[in-house]
Amino acid sequence: MKITLSVIKADIGSIGGHVAPSRKLQNTVEAFVRDRGAQLLRDCFVSHTGDDIAILMAHGRGPGNREIHKLAWDAFVTGTQTAKQEGLYGAGQDLLKDSFSGNVHGMGPAVAEMEFDERPNEPFLFFAADKTDPGAFNYPLYLAFADPMNTPGLILSPKMSKGFRFVVMDVNHTEGDRIIELNVPEQLYDLAALLRDPERYVVESVWSRATGEQAAAVATSRLHNIAGKYTGKDDPVMLVRVQMSFPATGEILTPYATGHIVAGAMRGSHQMPLMPVMQNTGTSYFDGPPLVSCAGFCVHEGRLTEPVDAFAQPFWDTVRDHVARKAIEMRRQGFFGAAMLPMSELEYTGIVEKLAELDGSFRVRAEGAKRAAA
Ligand code: F6R
Ligand code: MG
Ligand code: MG
Repeated sequence: MKITLSVIKADIGSIGGHVAPSRKLQNTVEAFVRDRGAQLLRDCFVSHTGDDIAILMAHGRGPGNREIHKLAWDAFVTGTQTAKQEGLYGAGQDLLKDSFSGNVHGMGPAVAEMEFDERPNEPFLFFAADKTDPGAFNYPLYLAFADPMNTPGLILSPKMSKGFRFVVMDVNHTEGDRIIELNVPEQLYDLAALLRDPERYVVESVWSRATGEQAAAVATSRLHNIAGKYTGKDDPVMLVRVQMSFPATGEILTPYATGHIVAGAMRGSHQMPLMPVMQNTGTSYFDGPPLVSCAGFCVHEGRLTEPVDAFAQPFWDTVRDHVARKAIEMRRQGFFGAAMLPMSELEYTGIVEKLAELDGSFRVRAEGAKRAAA
């Protein structure tokens, strides 16, 4: 049976700053989706990670479907009314357009979708990250789908030995989707050369070369490219199918034990380690640290099982301690060098304005000028 998984997420307001949505807000969004989506959806699941609410939907209408996207958009618009009534901070923050026009791409919410023939057993993982951007998934996807040091299945399982196809998007190109397709292992170094720059080149999807099936879908939208100014970090979501001809759940999860450094945290302008957290965790230290949650499901005839919280297992407590220490270490460096993002990625304009102001006060010393002339 053909099934589509769509996850659409947005920050439409939160308590105590950019921390977490109120229970009432999340309930409003969920009630709307369950009520209005009764005919449209086979199933749904609503959760939050940091200040973002994500709506995961299972249906039969394919990716980019107008009705499905409108359902999510309307749920966020209705939620925004609740957020305003409650006086939540940043109410409606990610709804960048006034009216719905076909689908939510380019309107603010992040979207990850895939359509596939449901296997008899169809396990998949739903990731949601907050206070970071879509490039945060480059590192874990590279390791999980291209590196046998992380994923022994690449050498042990005949179903995976043909490798995977990565579709990578140049997210700086705003006039349309500029993409490249690379097959690993043959083009491993080409892939590495692109993915080392996660602010520009972002994995959009991954496909099995043995079966042609889609394994992963990542939300690639960058809010400042849409709005032309800072409106919040992009806070991506991702779907990954697991087991059999795809990496095992544990092979997909393993890279998150590193706490790799990503763009984000305070004012969307820093480099901080990504912390794997439990579902429905808010932000705290330095408006972060950047968070990632993961819910595992099986989908059967479009019905979702209850989720299993992948990062709730005790192993991840040690990882969280490690990531917290790494975060504190990075923060000791304040705004110097690698601790803060390069100028092109700063989400606030203060420094650019200050440097323009100071530029007029620079002078070239007279002797220096003479030496240069000679
Ligand atoms: C980062 C983020 C926060 C805010 C910060 C200031 O993505 O959302 O770090 O940038 O709390 O927020 P404003 O400018 O709303 O006061
Ligand atoms: Mg926010
Ligand atoms: Mg957020």
